[in-house]
Amino acid sequence: MGELYAVVSGKGGTGKTSVCAGIATALAEGGKRVLCIDCDVGLRNLDISLGMSDSGNLSFLDVSEFGYDLKNAPHHGIFPTLSFLTAPMNRSAEDIDPAPFTELLHRAREEFDFVFLDAPAGVDAGFRLATTAADQFLLVTGAGPAAVRDAARVGELLELAGKRNVRMVVNRVDKSMLSTVRMTVDDIMDAAGLPLAGIVLEDPHVTLAAAFSLPLLQYASRCDAAKAYRRIAARVQGLYCPIPFR
Ligand SMILES: Nc1ncnc2c1ncn2[C@@H]1O[C@H](COP(=O)(O)OP(=O)(O)O)[C@@H](O)[C@H]1O
Ligand SMILES: [Mg+2]
Repeated sequence: MGELYAVVSGKGGTGKTSVCAGIATALAEGGKRVLCIDCDVGLRNLDISLGMSDSGNLSFLDVSEFGYDLKNAPHHGIFPTLSFLTAPMNRSAEDIDPAPFTELLHRAREEFDFVFLDAPAGVDAGFRLATTAADQFLLVTGAGPAAVRDAARVGELLELAGKRNVRMVVNRVDKSMLSTVRMTVDDIMDAAGLPLAGIVLEDPHVTLAAAFSLPLLQYASRCDAAKAYRRIAARVQGLYCPIPFR
């Protein structure tokens, strides 16, 4: 039975989509069977970060409601064990029946080692769609106090929903702060009351790769963010991978 992760945050622009694509491609690079699902209904862009904009666009609704087989989900050209379902553009999240979507996720867990759901901003219908069936959560946040407060609130919401396995990814950390980041990260974990899955440095390659519609792990395989995504992918698999503070 595969693991079902939702990548969430209260705010938009924290890096959910980049983190989701980065970890999913890192897992697929290691041969894991991964299904990515874009849950940002109406505003999809996970296809760009995965470098799959040209791979056809089978939406999750096509599979959950319109009879397409999960096997029709396009495979990644570089990481062939990664498949992708995009978000529908012609229906709002409020109008999506969660029952067939949940059924799709159950089937996906039988066929894949990992299923990653890229959640939209906010905590409304799209968030509920992405989180209801998930049992593992990566909460993407910046390092500033406002971002952490926001993350803490989302952590509370997930706890109220009975979700326990919530870990933070602190994204866009300034490299010059790295020497003091242990302190910062401790503060962040205390403030949010959540453990850490990893930190990702501010890295221009993330935006450049998306501008070229290429997956970061292909565009700049050894850049800081790519290394961070690989480390988080290792932790997601339960491997020992200490966070490098220097
Ligand atoms: N580690 C990073 N370093 C630099 N830019 C980043 C990083 N992570 C994300 N970004 C940029 O931040 C913007 C928002 O990222 P995105 O993944 O789309 O966030 P979200 O899905 O939360 O809205 C994008 O322009 C992306 O390229
Ligand atoms: Mg996004």
